[in-house]
Amino acid sequence: MKALILSGGAGTRLRPITHTSAKQLVPVANKPVLFYGIEAIADAGITEIGIVVGDTAAEIREAVGDGSRFGVKVTYIPQDAPLGLAHAVLIAKDFLGDDDFVMYLGDNFIVGGITGLVEGFRSDRPAAQILLTKVPNPTSFGVAELDAGGRVVALEEKPKVPKSDLALVGVYLFTPAIHEAVRSIEPSGRGELEITHAIQWLIDEKRDVRSTTISGYWKDTGNVTDMLEVNRSVLETVEPVIEGTVDEASEIIGRVRVEAGAQVTGSRIVGPAIIGANTVISDAYVGPFTSVSEGCRIEDSEIEYSIVLRGASITGVRRVEASLIGRDVEVTPAPRNPAAHRLVLGDHSKVQISS
Ligand code: DAU
Repeated sequence: MKALILSGGAGTRLRPITHTSAKQLVPVANKPVLFYGIEAIADAGITEIGIVVGDTAAEIREAVGDGSRFGVKVTYIPQDAPLGLAHAVLIAKDFLGDDDFVMYLGDNFIVGGITGLVEGFRSDRPAAQILLTKVPNPTSFGVAELDAGGRVVALEEKPKVPKSDLALVGVYLFTPAIHEAVRSIEPSGRGELEITHAIQWLIDEKRDVRSTTISGYWKDTGNVTDMLEVNRSVLETVEPVIEGTVDEASEIIGRVRVEAGAQVTGSRIVGPAIIGANTVISDAYVGPFTSVSEGCRIEDSEIEYSIVLRGASITGVRRVEASLIGRDVEVTPAPRNPAAHRLVLGDHSKVQISS
């Protein structure tokens, strides 16, 4: 069995942060979303991975390399334009050959991996197996309609009036039957060859299409709240380790990873939290559910429930919360204007002034 990861796309859609043009490289607990997908595939025992790349090919190649650090062999498959998920399957035919494969969307995050799913597929080999999850905003997804027995009867891509709240999650398992399907469909209204249409084609041909409904799922939807939340849940599983240096005046509490070359002085870090390599934390408080990437500086400041990307600095600021700080950002206090309040207050007034 092989895997096909889709990491193409123009990279122009809205993201929580434009720190990079490849949305598959958005970090969760200091690790690109794409890496979780590769690890889940490797854990399922699949070692041959094709990665479809587009405009952001150079960034993806630089981050992933030949796959050896994940114990897999990566083949890059260039896609000239983002012509759709089914188009990606079409151009990957030489790589895929006649093998079964798992197709994994590189911007999706599946809690708990895919090992059980892959094992089930290997023994039953339906023509296609899709994953579904309940979402509050089905109009942003492919949506499945199931019959009373739970069989997939219809799929619709980004419907205006969704027939259910079950969205297609970005992991699909296919036998080679999908190749005929992707050759048989026409581009959709948005000009893409849709994988939902290809799977619908299989359903119409009376082929066996099965679904599994899962709960732990996240996709980079441009929503900071969701991103902080998925970061929080991954940090809860962080293995505490101190590889950098922590001085005597500092206190480390709970699950905290201080990576190599990081220096913590006169500070208090309450986990779960990660302090990235070569980051300096001095006279600061880093609270729970915070990921600080490599090469950052947090000085004389307080931060919690936040994500700080590479090279950012926060100096003299109290308190940063529920925030996403991009690469090489500098956060400093606003200069204090000489403050004076001139007031003419009538009798019995009540005034609150922040000072
Ligand atoms: O995330 C789940 C959703 O993914 C499903 O519910 C939808 O049915 C499915 O069509 C897809 O929807 P999106 O429109 O949100 O997909 P997006 O354009 O974000 O692309 C998903 C991944 O595939 C992303 O990593 C970019 C990559 N991609 C996309 C296209 C269109 C490619 O590599 N090539 C492409 O041509």
